[in-house]
Amino acid sequence: QVQIPKLTRYKSVVLPLYRQSSQCRYALGMEDGTIPDSDITASSAWSDSTEAKHGRLSTGEGDGAWCPAGAVFPSASEYLQVDLRSLHFLALVGTQGRHADGHGREFARSYRLRYSRDGRTWITWKDRWGQEVVSGNENTYDVVLKDLGPPIVARYVRFYPLADRVMSVCLRVELYGCLWNDGLLVYTAPVGHVMHLSGSPVYLNDSTYDGSVESGVQFGGLGQLFDGVLGGNDFTETKELRVWPGYDYLGWSREALGQGSVDIEFHFEKTRSFHTMQVHSNNRHTQGVRVFSKVDCQFKPGLLLPWSSPPLSLAVPLEDLKDPSSRPISLPLGGRPAQILRCQFAFADRWMLISEISFYSGAGLPVAKDDSSNTAILIGCLVGIILLLLTVIAVILWRQYWKKILGKGSLSSDELRVHLSVPSDNVVINNTHSYSSRYQRIHTFPDDRERCDGEGEYQEPSALLRPLGQDSTGRDSTAVICLVSGNNTYAVPALTSTSPTAADCTPLPELPRHCLVFKEKLGEGQFGEVHLCEIESPQELPNLEFPFNVRKGRPLLVAVKILRPDASKNARNDFLKEGKILSRLKDPNIIRLLGVCVSSDPLCMVTEYMESGDLNQYLSHRVLLDKTGPTHNTPTISYPALIAMASQIASGMKFLSSLNFVHRDLATRNCLRPIKIADFGMSRNLYAGDYYRIQGRAVLPIRWMAWECILMGKFTTASDVWAFGVTLWEMLSVCQEQPYSNLTDEQVIDNAGEFFRDHGRQVYLSRPDVCPQGLYDLMLSCWNRDCKLRPSFAHIHSFLTEDAMNMV
Ligand SMILES: *[C@@H]1O[C@H](CO)[C@@H](O)[C@H](O)[C@H]1NC(C)=O
Repeated sequence: QVQIPKLTRYKSVVLPLYRQSSQCRYALGMEDGTIPDSDITASSAWSDSTEAKHGRLSTGEGDGAWCPAGAVFPSASEYLQVDLRSLHFLALVGTQGRHADGHGREFARSYRLRYSRDGRTWITWKDRWGQEVVSGNENTYDVVLKDLGPPIVARYVRFYPLADRVMSVCLRVELYGCLWNDGLLVYTAPVGHVMHLSGSPVYLNDSTYDGSVESGVQFGGLGQLFDGVLGGNDFTETKELRVWPGYDYLGWSREALGQGSVDIEFHFEKTRSFHTMQVHSNNRHTQGVRVFSKVDCQFKPGLLLPWSSPPLSLAVPLEDLKDPSSRPISLPLGGRPAQILRCQFAFADRWMLISEISFYSGAGLPVAKDDSSNTAILIGCLVGIILLLLTVIAVILWRQYWKKILGKGSLSSDELRVHLSVPSDNVVINNTHSYSSRYQRIHTFPDDRERCDGEGEYQEPSALLRPLGQDSTGRDSTAVICLVSGNNTYAVPALTSTSPTAADCTPLPELPRHCLVFKEKLGEGQFGEVHLCEIESPQELPNLEFPFNVRKGRPLLVAVKILRPDASKNARNDFLKEGKILSRLKDPNIIRLLGVCVSSDPLCMVTEYMESGDLNQYLSHRVLLDKTGPTHNTPTISYPALIAMASQIASGMKFLSSLNFVHRDLATRNCLRPIKIADFGMSRNLYAGDYYRIQGRAVLPIRWMAWECILMGKFTTASDVWAFGVTLWEMLSVCQEQPYSNLTDEQVIDNAGEFFRDHGRQVYLSRPDVCPQGLYDLMLSCWNRDCKLRPSFAHIHSFLTEDAMNMV
């Protein structure tokens, strides 16, 4: 009966992926709706529009979050509950307050987590140092992530918001993790002992066990044997800081236990057939610790069935045991079926220390390391890299060849800046002779310039350059973030005017280039190209900070802005500076920078990308829902929905303007849905007609630009307000036509001249049919000739959220 298992050693210790909190970080479906409303419940709700089902991270249905009816202070008994339908391994949770397009004020500064595997027994989560209270949100919009150490294995999770005084709190949440493939519900084992090593104690108890203890046996819970943390060679050292020596191991002394073996019983959700049990054990024999010498296992195929006989007996060979390093031991279980498994591990020395146990109930060991297959993968990778390099070289050579053939070197950004600082030279003098003298004179009008400089000509986004602190996940808060921006083509001055050193202090999050899988080209512009790419396994990139609303097995869509490989040094510096500034912008209505590839050429900026496309496309395929009811089969949009989207754009712009950040290209084509302001429009072929080409190179969105931008190249928050007015006009026209579609580009520029001359001959965009007069007045105020008289984004935002809604 005694089988001799092959002692399997691995160069690197491998755990099943679902047991590694670094791997198991998939959004489980609050945000994307995979968890149905019926599985989200709560102790109470303030109103129908703040029911539990509205407690989904990054969504804004109802009144924007779950809010309990009762006070959470001092009773702390209100909770939001998520039923995951089966056991999951949870590596982190995310929380957010109630933003509701700027109306919300409520968030929870801290909370408690309780969880249950069976829906009856509830356990309060504690961190490794025994702390139950988790710090939560500081504002209504930022997502705060909490890494769960130890991780939770549960089907039900409850969030209990906390407050230190009477106040209302609201919550939106997400859970991150993966299915608990083990299906293990509970293990029972003798409690661990304390070892005295030259006087100092080593606590070998089960540090994270969440069950009960009675007469020296722990039962009814899971603990560190299944927490995904492997102990090191020296059991007195720990992976975590500030915990006691021996933390990573559960260990028993033969003498203290008073018997020759340690009995551990495992209870599973369902009957399964077991191929392998892998036990990670310490072997520091110099201190009396050795791998067990023999294991006897009994199998119970069902709760009410008898133990199947005879027991399986496995001996662990004693050779190779001189090596004092910790190791996983693989024990073949022969595919026997069981719901309860009881194993006796025989002492080989005075102590036995185990840090982790895993079961493989599929076909054999998924971790089997076959050297030949490894080599094949390696060769495959190398060939791939070589092919990629060859392609890149070919592309570079091809570009240079064409440049020679065509004889026109590309415009360097230095030249570009010269052109753009006097746009009137290019735009007007060459094209409309009648205004040339006028435009030349513009530069001699100090009054005018000063007036429009009221908010600073090329404003320094100084607030952005302050080093931001750590976010509450403890990771550097620059690790992820946004993208917006002026485009390089004409945003260059704003970025170069910033202090060169201030922005350089924090490194940008670098993404490995090979993880980006090309999908399609979104377009190209002066700076280079924008590609739509996929990241196949975003969870495997340590540099990518969560949360991503990505389900297991689904790739993450990203937009990758690639700088031309032949870009000048200045253009490169600007690109890097842009990335640094953008990486500090964090707002729910602004697209985030996920990372950059700057360790090699070409430089890339990687931002999130919304599958649902941009606002222009979305609206142009819709008709306005009027009172006569739905028409034909065309999808509709309602006036309140338009205003709600406009107020989200205003909210994002309010954030940018509070940092003195000038966008320079606000338009519906640059807003993604759900509303996030981005800047890809510039580079998309689809919208080429929205931009005016100067000398065939630089492109400007003249139909969205304030007159002073067209004539003097001054981009300010006030000119962003102008562009917002045009954007609002587009939305109320349901993007059926381009602004000033009856005017040619030259006539649009002439119109800017009329604004400047102020003889009452300038034309305005006309009021869209559905647009109430009050809202049209707001648009007109955005197009005020005097920058100072244009409204602020704060004003626009409150107008849209308060007044405009009731105007229909
Ligand atoms: C394990 O031992 C440490 C150190 O004495 C103690 O603080 C901790 O509460 C114990 N944990 C359990 C689960 O018994």
